[in-house]
Amino acid sequence: MEQKSIVLIGFMGVGKTTIGREVADKLNRNFIDIDSEIEKAFDIPTTEIFQTYGQETFRRKEKELIKKYTQQKQLVISVGGGAFLQEEVKQLCLSNCIVVFLDISWDTWKERIGFLTRTRPNLQGKSLGEIKELFNERQPIYKNHHVKVNTDHLNVDEAAYKVINELGAV
Ligand code: S3P
Repeated sequence: MEQKSIVLIGFMGVGKTTIGREVADKLNRNFIDIDSEIEKAFDIPTTEIFQTYGQETFRRKEKELIKKYTQQKQLVISVGGGAFLQEEVKQLCLSNCIVVFLDISWDTWKERIGFLTRTRPNLQGKSLGEIKELFNERQPIYKNHHVKVNTDHLNVDEAAYKVINELGAV
């Protein structure tokens, strides 16, 4: 546990980036947000990467960067909610790192929708019903993990402490 990097997974908007940054701070580790790294590589926001190059190109870069960072020790890494759609990404994370699934109920999640659609191409143009379907469809990809933390009713600080507590029990 002491050396391995920690990877945070979970549906879009669960708080992987904010909670991940807090966990990294509390553990004195460096934090890597894979979505930001992808945006840096293309020098444009995710929505534009999807529009200009397509989702497949985004996924290829996502895999390349996850491969790079999961080989490093003692990081806290937040990966996008669709990263585990790629089996190879899932296996890399599970074998090299400690994978923490940040769980959230649909009822809690749906209150956040207004903040998310502008920056999440996979939510754009979808009805609430379609987004709920995507939410449910995505749950199986998060099934394999080392630790699960439910974030309903927790603020960022509480969620970060809960992750760290659970990690202590790994
Ligand atoms: C995606 C999730 C996003 C980002 C991209 C695609 C997805 O990351 O990688 O918009 O398909 O679930 P977050 O989970 O950080 O929002």
